[in-house]
Amino acid sequence: MKIGVVGVGYLGAVHATALASIGFDVTATDVDDAKVASLNAGKATFHEPGFDDLLARTVDQGSLRFTTDPTELADHDVVFLCVGTPQVSGGSAADLSQVWSAVADLAPHLAADAVLVGKSTVPVGTAARIADFLVERGSSATVVWNPEFLREGFAVRDTLEPDRIVVGAPDDAAGARAVDLLREVYAAPLAAGTPLLVTDVATAELVKAAANAFLATKISFINAMAEICDEVGADVTQLADAIGHDSRIGSQFLKAGVGFGGGCLPKDIRAFRARSAELGVGQALDFLDDVDDINRRSRSRARDAALGALEGVDEPVVTVLGAAFKPDSDDTRDSAALDIAAQLAATGAAVRVHDPAALATAARVAPQLDYRADLSDALAGADLVMVLTEWREYRDLDPDEAGRLVRRRRVIDGRNCLPAQSWADAGWHWSGMGVPDRLPAPATVG
Ligand code: UDX
Repeated sequence: MKIGVVGVGYLGAVHATALASIGFDVTATDVDDAKVASLNAGKATFHEPGFDDLLARTVDQGSLRFTTDPTELADHDVVFLCVGTPQVSGGSAADLSQVWSAVADLAPHLAADAVLVGKSTVPVGTAARIADFLVERGSSATVVWNPEFLREGFAVRDTLEPDRIVVGAPDDAAGARAVDLLREVYAAPLAAGTPLLVTDVATAELVKAAANAFLATKISFINAMAEICDEVGADVTQLADAIGHDSRIGSQFLKAGVGFGGGCLPKDIRAFRARSAELGVGQALDFLDDVDDINRRSRSRARDAALGALEGVDEPVVTVLGAAFKPDSDDTRDSAALDIAAQLAATGAAVRVHDPAALATAARVAPQLDYRADLSDALAGADLVMVLTEWREYRDLDPDEAGRLVRRRRVIDGRNCLPAQSWADAGWHWSGMGVPDRLPAPATVG
């Protein structure tokens, strides 16, 4: 079977590489020459644990090629659509321009019995529109939807060992054939016990939107609880632990802090909201506006806590630890850490930002900030340290050593990820999100 992949961003590059690594012959296309050249040289264009090695090995074996020429997909049996669907500029809906330009490029070249498999996150109804478009262009390819649930930082594992495989296919002979082909593509995870859920096309598109809306809601729920905890001096981490023991609730995605960011959750809940309004059922998802508002408030609460902690300090220096939207990633799209750093810099504070992987991407998004590649250099002379992305390197920081570098031992733990008591024992005033402050023991003050 010959497999094509269109779009070699995060999703497409990992998907293409993962399929080639388990023995398929894969050709991946993209309009970006630089990305194609880099991937062909076996060099990843983003930071993702385990991906570099897998890519280099697979390109070396000759089973994976990247190209800018869509005609090279002409005789492929299965073509995965993996292009980006960012938020439209100046609005909240999804920008589908990459989807439409990829489909228009492909349409004349698709084999008569090809299966076009959408993986990108799209507004419900997009697959049906693509199918109509292909018919208009004289193509008889079948369109199915197979949403991707991969998390950055776990992309290779999530692709090769997903929790579930969802395939939305038309209820006819072509749809059944497409599902059979996908059973072959995913033979390895299916043999390992991964469930395959076959649905209609619209349901498959909705599964992705619903999953991300649910995850975002869970995070905003716990951040709303954090707001209440802050008011009454309660501890949201204990609360999350206690409710998480109820298996109906579960303990994952209940970490309170500065909230969710990244290239998926924020834009996906907005696009879902916009699509529901277009469909005339906007009220059903009104609550996603609150989810978004709570998320924004988590960032402003951290910023306000920082401003409070700096009151009375002349020419304050703030060290922000973390720029990526989450650890093990160099992705700064809609990053809470970078947003808070920029908000603080806008108040006139001198803000230094450290991140183990995301400094280059951060500097492109927020060039006004002072980036420090060396952690000790970033900490030296700080009046306030803020941990905004929970990289291991920060969680493992020695509070005594860090304390010797800073001007004031004041830390805001925006991810509730530090061992608070050890920091307090080392003379730091520790504040979390929705957790009572830990103050230094009197003997260590000063
Ligand atoms: C997400 C979905 O998890 C994935 O299934 C989908 O395919 C794409 O979107 P990703 O963007 O990689 O994946 O990140 P995820 O691990 O979901 O984290 C999203 C954001 O939520 C991060 O900013 C993270 O820091 C934040 N988060 C996560 C919390 O604030 N609290 C939590 O408990 C969990």
